[in-house]
This record gives sequence, structure tokens and C-alpha cells, in this order.
Amino acid sequence: MDKVCVARRIPQAGLDLIAQHAEMILSPHDRALTREELMDLCTGCRVLVATLANRIDRDFLLARPEIRLVANVAVGYDNVDLVAAREFGVMVSNTPGVLTDATADLTMLLILALLRRLVEGDRLVRAGEFRGMHPLFMLGSDPRGKVLGIYGMGRIGEAVAQRALSFGMKIVYHNRHPRPEAERELSAEYLGFDEFLGACDVLAITAPLTEETRGVFNYQAFKRMRPSAYLVNTGRGPIVVEEDLVRALDDRLIAGAGLDVYEFEPKVHPGLIELPNVILSPHLGSATIETRNQMAALAAHNVIAFLHGQDLPSRVV
Ligand code: DGY
Repeated sequence: MDKVCVARRIPQAGLDLIAQHAEMILSPHDRALTREELMDLCTGCRVLVATLANRIDRDFLLARPEIRLVANVAVGYDNVDLVAAREFGVMVSNTPGVLTDATADLTMLLILALLRRLVEGDRLVRAGEFRGMHPLFMLGSDPRGKVLGIYGMGRIGEAVAQRALSFGMKIVYHNRHPRPEAERELSAEYLGFDEFLGACDVLAITAPLTEETRGVFNYQAFKRMRPSAYLVNTGRGPIVVEEDLVRALDDRLIAGAGLDVYEFEPKVHPGLIELPNVILSPHLGSATIETRNQMAALAAHNVIAFLHGQDLPSRVV
């Protein structure tokens, strides 16, 4: 029977499926394994079921040539060196589609929470500082009529735009290439990057991390945004230069930020932690029971298809 290594416990639905088709080697620890621990655990395995915390780079693949499939339990795959995987003929799969709604929901939640100052309000109540509402108390802004900019109009970006439309927001977007069908369906307008930055009341990053997107949101970019604008990032942390974001917030180049992902995750820049106009969530984009079950099942179906020599349901490489 083929051996399949599972780097960290995933929902039972996925484990049960894998165990029916292979000898499953599951990490005994409830934490991310170190590189050495993972190397040991997956010795002799043809498949590695990995999470974003596992850096599967060239050296890893060279050291474990028996691995022929890396099945990521995530839609993103920036933790895997795709160039090396291609070169060594290692397949890589991900879990697209099943987490679109959950991630779009969380993005919309951050947008509304920023506009309506929800987390600030929660802190105020807990600090015993709520003295009763009054006409000028904690005023936020309506989403209606505001411009939402989507950086990365893919599946998740479109799902965020759909939600925002129902809150009366107008949609602009920036992508590598314009997406005419999204423009028709969402009445979205494509803008060049500089114009895009200046047009947004809220700018939501839903792009994947690539060499093109890494570090795009730096101090220069924040300078082009509106002082009243909010930045939301549910894509990948390193798309934003956190040091520059802290400076931009200190210099009031933008009004606030809602972050679900971090440049040096799980570390968070201490400057962000001190700022009251920043909402910090711990990479919860796909964190619902339903979504994680579906992600685990999809990852398992990729593994099973591989073991049976069939086409993978969601193959990246
Ligand atoms: C992914 O799947 O890439 C997400 O970041 C996990 O929530």
C-alpha cells in the first residue's frame, strides 16, 4: 500500500478518505512540524499532504525524491517551489473553489467592521468607557456609495465584489489583465494601478502571492491612496510591506486597515498591534467547519486520484 504523509491533522472527513486508500502517516503533534521533523515523518511516502506552514522548497524535494505529489490543504501554494516541482516531475494540488465564499465573507466582515468601527467599539465597552450613545458618538461610514477596489479579481475577488454590490458599493479593480466578463457581471471598472490606488474608499487585496505581487503595497503606494481610505488584506501577507503600512498609518496617509494575513506570519509587526484603527484577525479566511471539511475532502480526492493514476481534481503542476 502507498504511504501518504499528513503533515498536520486535518478534518476527519479528509483523514478517513485517505486512510481508505493508503497507509496514512499522520503527524502525532498538534503543531507545525519543523522541517527536520517533516522530513523524517515523510520518509518513504509518495504523497505529502501539506499546509501553508510547510515550506516545500527545492532542497526538501531533492532530499525526499520519493514524494511524487504535494497535496496542499489551501488554495494558495506559495509555500511550494513550483519551479522545482515541475523540474522534478512532482505534482502539486490545491483546494480552490470550496473556500471562496468563506474568504469573501471574512473580507466583507473586515470591510464593514472598519467602516462601522466595530472592534474599536468592543474595546471601548470592555474598558468600561461606554457612557451612553449620543448623536456624535463613534460615527463610522456607510458602505453605500463608497468605492471598493479589488486588487486581484479572481474567484475570491469576484465573490467579495458580489457581496459589496448588495451593500451599495461601487466596484473598481486592478489585475494583471482586465476581466471583461467580471466587468459585465459586477459593473466593475478596470483601472491602471496608480488610478486604482487613488479611487478606492476601501481597497481589498484578494490576490495570490507571486513575484509580481510581493511588496506591491509599499509606502509609495500608500502615498497615492486617499487619507480616508481603508486597506483590507485577505490575500497574502507579503503583498503588503508591513513596516511601510505602519509608517503610512502613523503619517495618516490612510485611515485604517483590516488584516487577516501577515508579512512574516505568524509574527505581526508590533507597530500594528498598537494602532487602534487596525483590525487584526489570525488568518481566518477559510476557517469555518464546513469549508475546512470541504478543503480536507478535496485534498483527499486529489490524493486518491493520484494513487489510482487518474486526473487530479485540482492540479496546479
Ligand atoms: C488558502 O487556502 O490559501 C488560505 O489562505 C487558507 O485560509
